[in-house]
Amino acid sequence: MTAVFAAAAAVLIIWGICEARFILKGRHHRIGTRGIRIAYLSDLHCGFFFSPKRLEKVIQRVQELSPDLVLLGGDYVEGGPTYARECLEALSRLSPAAAVLGNHDIQDSRKGSAREAAAAVCRSLGIPLLYNSCITVQVKGITLQIAGPADARRDTAYLGHIRRDPSADIMILLSHNPDFIPSGAQHLDFDLALCGHTHGGQITLFGRPLTTHSKYRKELGRGLCRWKGKPVVVSCGLGTTIMPLRFFASPSIETADL
Ligand SMILES: [Fe+2]
Repeated sequence: MTAVFAAAAAVLIIWGICEARFILKGRHHRIGTRGIRIAYLSDLHCGFFFSPKRLEKVIQRVQELSPDLVLLGGDYVEGGPTYARECLEALSRLSPAAAVLGNHDIQDSRKGSAREAAAAVCRSLGIPLLYNSCITVQVKGITLQIAGPADARRDTAYLGHIRRDPSADIMILLSHNPDFIPSGAQHLDFDLALCGHTHGGQITLFGRPLTTHSKYRKELGRGLCRWKGKPVVVSCGLGTTIMPLRFFASPSIETADL
């Protein structure tokens, strides 16, 4: 009997490693009909278990999707800032319109302020970093306002001073942590929110997350959710944290047609 359990455990672990390392899903969401395609990447957790080769595959897949706009949702690194430049340098080839930081990008401060280090990397690569701020971009003659808070778990996330620009045709909320929506974005009249952080549970029982590090795991746990009628995409992300395993929460690139 012990041998059966050991064999079953080995199969599950091998499955989990393979799902995390080799599966790359594309999840598509139709939000509107203006003809703008956004690609959204989050939670790469670049490090020992997310190789440059895997990162190249992700970038190639995004390029094949021909997005009009690329947005980055944070948690670029795992286990410290060592891979921040390598990861963001590769992602900068996608010319992201905006990025926010995640809790993993700022939690390691062995070499001074990790937040400042990550921000400096973004600055040097020309990646617009939102930090309790917003920007406006033009895509195909349509004005998009993109608002991004600091990380809601490890930092001070605040968008109370941001309002929808009357000239904006579309407003997007780019927040690493979906819990910011109930706690800090109730006043924002956004058309779409893009979040990550939960990894869709990462380890699930056939799709039911055991934990998501979110207070709103039922409402904002994964996939295309709704908050007060507004669409919120919560990506399963691309990398892993703590354990290099995924069970029925496959790595995913999200696209949203607006
Ligand atoms: Fe993450």
